Amino acid sequence: MNFQALIRTRYSVRAYKPDAVEEDKLTRILEAARIAPTAANRQAFRIIVLPTKGREAELHRIYGRDWFVQAPLVLAVCAVPSEAWVRKADGWNAAEVDATIAMAHIVLAAAEEGLGTCWIAAFDPGAARDVLGLPPDVIPAAFTPLGYPADTPAPKKRRPLTELVRRGRW
Ligand SMILES: Cc1cc2nc3c(=O)[nH]c(=O)nc-3n(C[C@H](O)[C@H](O)[C@H](O)COP(=O)(O)O)c2cc1C
Repeated sequence: MNFQALIRTRYSVRAYKPDAVEEDKLTRILEAARIAPTAANRQAFRIIVLPTKGREAELHRIYGRDWFVQAPLVLAVCAVPSEAWVRKADGWNAAEVDATIAMAHIVLAAAEEGLGTCWIAAFDPGAARDVLGLPPDVIPAAFTPLGYPADTPAPKKRRPLTELVRRGRW
């Protein structure tokens, strides 16, 4: 699939089939995250692969929607500020941006494999820390189920380019 088709194919999938995700597909998706650009190439993120079977109740503590645990896998992308590039001018830490770009690669790579994802930020960070056993300095950045879609995409609603893009200055 070319890039323009891919970015239009991806959508937020909120119903999943229970079918397994093939290991080679999962590997290509994780590789896509590995290849993502990160500030100063610090790769200040980690991905936790969570099989959902038998962990439904625990995972529901993180995000309560039924469809969150319908897919066979959930991926958690975590930011690691202690490894990240920090901008000297103001101390800004790139870890969450690194993790976010990795997640963007994941959702697009999954779409290319015919798999569904839904970027989730409205999770309970305390429950995520607890369930995933995160060290205190690691930040849960984003979750997504990973599995075969059981719904169909709605037409995309987006602001027009004329609203989103300014030329020269704000
Ligand atoms: C940073 C971020 C956080 C999001 N958090 C949630 C979420 O917690 N729950 C949810 O159902 N969708 C979430 N989404 C999905 C968005 O609602 C969705 O991407 C947007 O409405 C556009 O629809 P589309 O992905 O189908 O093109 C999130 C997306 C992003 C990028």
